[in-house]
Amino acid sequence: MVMNMKKTKAPLDWKNLSFEYNKTDCNIRYYWKDGKWSDGELVTDESVPLHMAAPCLHYGQEAFEGLKAFETKDGRAVVFRPVENSRRLQRSCERIFIPLISDEIFLDAVRRVVDANWKYLPPYGTGASMYIRPLVIGTGARVGLGPASEYLFVMFATPVGPYYKGGFKPVKALIVEEFDRAAPQGVGDCKVGGNYAAGLSGAQFGKDRGYPVVLYLDSREKRYIDEFSTSNFIAIRGNTYITPKSNSILPSITNDSLSVIARDLGMEVERRQVEASELASFDEVGAVGTAAVITPVNHIRFRERDYTFGDGENAGPAITRLYERLTRIQTGDYEDAHRWLYEVK
Ligand code: COI
Repeated sequence: MVMNMKKTKAPLDWKNLSFEYNKTDCNIRYYWKDGKWSDGELVTDESVPLHMAAPCLHYGQEAFEGLKAFETKDGRAVVFRPVENSRRLQRSCERIFIPLISDEIFLDAVRRVVDANWKYLPPYGTGASMYIRPLVIGTGARVGLGPASEYLFVMFATPVGPYYKGGFKPVKALIVEEFDRAAPQGVGDCKVGGNYAAGLSGAQFGKDRGYPVVLYLDSREKRYIDEFSTSNFIAIRGNTYITPKSNSILPSITNDSLSVIARDLGMEVERRQVEASELASFDEVGAVGTAAVITPVNHIRFRERDYTFGDGENAGPAITRLYERLTRIQTGDYEDAHRWLYEVK
């Protein structure tokens, strides 16, 4: 009898996965040398040999992405909007002088890394997903400040559960003004490691005070809402979906998808500067991103005041509707009217 290897799953406790690295069989690597990218090579090695003078180590010449694959009810593997991640990575790379990775290479990597790790694709109905992490780093030896002469593009995949404990359960957030995440004309709109390193102190500051999530204001005026440490900010007021417009936040693909879904659900969408002073007028708030999906936020602490959203305990109705529609589209349970799913065959 010939076993269908694609149907055989790894023996994992799928329903209780956390957002951690779980070992899979292989990752894919492409090397940039002499002005071109190599063909991708699937490897089992989880480590990356690096020269100690590599610019990614000293000068942070690094960009990354995050996207997810899901299993559908009929056993297909689908990836959510990978071309959007490819385009965002291209924009990040351009900003920090990393050579362009074409959509063709990016999609080749997605296809091959999912296919080679099929047994780690969480089974339909478990609530888990396969998180795909592409990253590109400047390699080769260099001491003076300047772009690297060589690069490595790696994509790995790992099965994950919810980013915040408990899944679709509200969390409390703190607005931190003691630290900035990004400078007004810096790289806040790019997915580069430095933004996340800069956010570590703020995140710890929040955790020490009992807040698993922190929210940043614009660093120039401390007047407008920018984004959370891990994800974009959305608010619901009446029938309106509101999300900040800012040069220093990451253009979230989840946020973009949710804005489209909000319109499909008959809501108004406002993407504009959002004043922190508007907090009291919001009915619901959410943190949205690939890892966070939509994490409802039921309390925000800001300048010694507490703001409560929804009933203070549960996710509100609009955020629940948006979450359900998005997650049903992602697993193929709702019509993919916007052609967001990319099937790996
Ligand atoms: C994602 O949502 O994919 C991210 O990269 C955020 C990260 C903090 C996990």
